[in-house]
Amino acid sequence: MADKKTFYITTPIYYPSGKLTIGNAYTTVAADSMARYKRAQGYDTFFLTGDDEHGLKIEQKAEAQGIKPQEYVDKMADSYKKLWKMLDISYDKFIRTSDPEHVAAVQKIFEKLLKQGDIYLGEYTGWYSVEDEEYFTESQLAEVYKDDDGNVIGGKAPSGHEVRLVKEPSYFFKMSKYADRLVEYYKEHPDFILPHSREKEMINNFIKPGLEDLSVTRTTVDWGIPVPSDPKHVVYVWIDALSNYITALGYGSDDDSLFKKYWPADVHLVGKEIVRFHTIYWPIMLMALGLPLPKQIFGHGWVLMKDGKMSKSKGNAVYPEMIVERYGLDALRYYLMREIPFGSDGIFTPEDFVERVNFDLANDLGNLLNRTVSMINQYQDGMVAPVVKDQDEFGEDLMKTAKETIAEYEKQMDALHFSQALDAVWKLISRANKYIDETTPWTLNKEGKKEELSRVMTNLAESLRLVAILISPIMTQNPVQMFKQLGLDWNNADQKKLEFGGFGWNVKVTEKPTPIFPRLKNDVEVKYIKEQMKKAKPKKQTRSEQKQEKHITIDDFDKVKIQVGQILSVEPVKGSNKLLMFKLDFGDGQERQILSGIRKFYPDASELLDKKVLAVTNLKPRKMLGHESQGMLLSSEKNGEVKLAIVSDEHANGAQLG
Ligand code: ME8
Ligand code: MG
Repeated sequence: MADKKTFYITTPIYYPSGKLTIGNAYTTVAADSMARYKRAQGYDTFFLTGDDEHGLKIEQKAEAQGIKPQEYVDKMADSYKKLWKMLDISYDKFIRTSDPEHVAAVQKIFEKLLKQGDIYLGEYTGWYSVEDEEYFTESQLAEVYKDDDGNVIGGKAPSGHEVRLVKEPSYFFKMSKYADRLVEYYKEHPDFILPHSREKEMINNFIKPGLEDLSVTRTTVDWGIPVPSDPKHVVYVWIDALSNYITALGYGSDDDSLFKKYWPADVHLVGKEIVRFHTIYWPIMLMALGLPLPKQIFGHGWVLMKDGKMSKSKGNAVYPEMIVERYGLDALRYYLMREIPFGSDGIFTPEDFVERVNFDLANDLGNLLNRTVSMINQYQDGMVAPVVKDQDEFGEDLMKTAKETIAEYEKQMDALHFSQALDAVWKLISRANKYIDETTPWTLNKEGKKEELSRVMTNLAESLRLVAILISPIMTQNPVQMFKQLGLDWNNADQKKLEFGGFGWNVKVTEKPTPIFPRLKNDVEVKYIKEQMKKAKPKKQTRSEQKQEKHITIDDFDKVKIQVGQILSVEPVKGSNKLLMFKLDFGDGQERQILSGIRKFYPDASELLDKKVLAVTNLKPRKMLGHESQGMLLSSEKNGEVKLAIVSDEHANGAQLG
């Protein structure tokens, strides 16, 4: 017997840097819908998701919570799995990049590429934004700060976040070596990158100007996979992250049977911002490893908010839990897959969401079911007779629409056009609603046309049976309800044959009709969602708010050395509108330089000259915009107003507080 056809689908592995949004849910629900669709079609399907746990940002998140990175990511991975359970995500594996099997495989991959000369040691120079988790070249910066000689000393990322200069030894991947082969591959596989417009973007923006070699290690990050032959380096981001798609299948381990079975992937679903990594770096890595390339990368669009892309870091996000708790899972899954055609961007608004639920789900679908089940109960004591061949013109047309719907739906689903596939289903729903108006079953009942009435009832029930099956990859709960109300059993495979007349009926409906989607009060719900969105916005905490009201011991306090210092000079730092640079006398005959971000509170800084202030003097010195700061001036903050802690002249320079 021939082996079953396989289907391997993946989502990106998300950074566990915060709660997942409906943006992340968008990709994952799409992948889940496709996996369910393929399983129903008889494919042996493997659906992979997971998280991307290494890097500086994660290290810092853990530190802020006072826990080890491993402990932090353990917690986050658990919370992600909980969310996916709530959203009925039927993944076959959740990969974590801290999984020992993944770590070992990445190390093997790295050493192999190093040994064969695809990776070499060089020096990395660039600008890093911690908030964006991204390195930038100077030309990519939105704003640069320069000193008097015109040297760039700092700047802002396109997101507006501050960047800092990093210069460090780094291993590089020779990308350029494979550029021609890659373009050739695109040509031979016209559906490799979808939507097609993104292929041109890759070629014109990145490949044609010349592929730059990719920096693939860092020495300034601890939380990552060490390079075995040079362990002060950790593998940085993309080799670690992208490899997940093969290490999850056991590539590089003793048991690679899943890899043999499922690789190459049928489709990687990704957001458009990481298409570049998946269509350039990933294929090149695979070529270098001598492995087949994935069949397809689909770069879908963004779920936007009115003020731009929704993101974990920006704090303008909508979280799936809130929607599911109030409106049910299927409302969310349906909205996501219907509202934004896969490949395009779309804006989430509470108004659109409520409208979709009311019009499509409560009215069109909900009413069709409700009316049908009520009439079957009322007119024929719950009995649904078998489908008959002989139909009138309305019945013929309904059957024709059903047939066309199924064909169109499959065509669109196969192309990952979820929204269009649902459009097709809703055409059948509309057709069935119209069929009720055309046949007026209440008149048939009054006139005692029993045979005709029965035919109409069966046709409606049969249409609803098909609708339930068609929407079931996308909506996981209501189809089961629909079946139940129609007197059918979701677990009975015979009842799920996808063809008009594919099920014989002769069924007695026993359920009372209950609305599957209650109609929402427009104003109330729009207001509710808006309020929730406001609440979800993370408040920026000031440092004094972060300081918890916990007791410390005197030993904790003694660790902090606070001294009196006298201000010798103060001037603004060039290229910064926040920083002032102070030189202070701490009574030891040496000047100490301290930077402080209080410029806006002292527009005329000269008023501070000669003043005696308090400073922490045993902090580790750190560089700010290229200047060393050897301590921290103490200040008070209330309602956003900041004042330096100035003390009277009777305190001697260098005197220590305690
Ligand atoms: O990029 N609209 O992780 P990430 C649509 N770890 N999709 C969205 C979205 C939105 N508003 N917000 C997030 C990473 N997504 C890397 C990936 S893969 C080897 C490594 C989805 O946490 C979308 O799929 O930033 C996007 O590509 C992904 O989340 C980014 O997740
Ligand atoms: Mg991101």
